[in-house]
Amino acid sequence: MRKPATRPTLSVVPSASALPRPPDALALLGALPMPLLAIDNRNRVRYVNPAAEEFLGISASQLATLGLMDLLPADNPLFLMIDQARRDEMIVADRDLSIEGPRVRKVGISVQVAPLPEEPGTVILLMQDASTARALDRQLTFRSAARSVSGMAAILAHEVKNPLSGIRGAAQLLETSVAVADRELAVLIRDEADRIRALVDRMEMFGDKPIERGAVNIHRVLEHVRRLAQSGFAARIRFAEVYDPSLPPVWGNRDQLVQVVLNLIKNAAEAIASAGTEHGEIVLMTSYEHGVWLTVPSSERRVHLPLVVAVRDNGPGVPDDIKPHLFEPFVSGKPSGSGLGLALVAKIVGDHGGLIEVESRPSRTEVRLHLPVVPDEDGEAAV
Ligand SMILES: Nc1ncnc2c1ncn2[C@@H]1O[C@H](COP(=O)(O)OP(=O)(O)OP(=O)(O)O)[C@@H](O)[C@H]1O
Ligand SMILES: [Mg+2]
Repeated sequence: MRKPATRPTLSVVPSASALPRPPDALALLGALPMPLLAIDNRNRVRYVNPAAEEFLGISASQLATLGLMDLLPADNPLFLMIDQARRDEMIVADRDLSIEGPRVRKVGISVQVAPLPEEPGTVILLMQDASTARALDRQLTFRSAARSVSGMAAILAHEVKNPLSGIRGAAQLLETSVAVADRELAVLIRDEADRIRALVDRMEMFGDKPIERGAVNIHRVLEHVRRLAQSGFAARIRFAEVYDPSLPPVWGNRDQLVQVVLNLIKNAAEAIASAGTEHGEIVLMTSYEHGVWLTVPSSERRVHLPLVVAVRDNGPGVPDDIKPHLFEPFVSGKPSGSGLGLALVAKIVGDHGGLIEVESRPSRTEVRLHLPVVPDEDGEAAV
């Protein structure tokens, strides 16, 4: 299935007639903090915004005399992406690209190429620096960290769970037989045994069992978790939903996706609560992005990940010392956190063949998941 490169209408966006007159388009592009170039049908630079001048380190007047061929070697994958965007009239994106030529040297950048329907053959390029790509790298690294947890969980389950149920049973017996003054101690032993068991149970979720997949309506998953959250740990927080109602189902495991969304919403709610943010808000978003592909390491295969599910909060942001280790197991900035939530999210999303991006600054933390759609009958992921 190939969809035209139209963007979904989002339910919260007011209709065009309700909007005031927009600012001048060139002024908007000039202020855009993302590097943007327009490339004509002969691969010459037609327009470049100030962010792109700065990003490439080349002035607009110089760029006006150049073509992409002057900036990049002919075998750079960017040319293929541009051709595909022109030919199929769709948005094409890739990460971790290098632009290395005599004038420019940029590595690990993310690029989106979109056709400009009003001017056939012309495409726009949006570029993004390495930070996003680095976040993805990190996620891949942490998948191996998650694997080490799965080995440990198997040992713990064996070595800890059995004796633990003995300890718990003994404490329960003591509760009924010891003097009232000591009963509190017996209860303490039972409660702590329960806590350890819950921890081992969570670690067992890192197991290496293959996932059972089906078509999952991600909006139902989000609704389910939102209701759960609002009747419990996030009762005082306002929720907003920005859904693309035409989204196809995710190719995934419903229970595991519930677990993922629950962990993300829990983190968002805990961050808001920890800072005492007055108007705490969590925004749940879904959208369809045509051009996100993941190159599967050590193979030529590229997987299409068009479904985006995002959870955003206006809490204080991820602490700087946690950021580089965000997905590692047992890393937590909370006094009683186990630090397993995001490690599990990374493991599950990784098992689904998806990707995670995190952007965080004070008052705005957004976790974006890129997930696959249900494959066609011939096994190809739908595009
Ligand atoms: N939305 C967020 N805003 C701010 N910080 C966050 C957010 N999400 C995660 N973090 C930081 O990342 C750390 C790791 O999160 P993770 O979910 O892995 O563990 P945890 O929440 O501490 O414990 P657990 O999820 O096991 O109860 C958190 O302790 C917190 O410091
Ligand atoms: Mg957590």
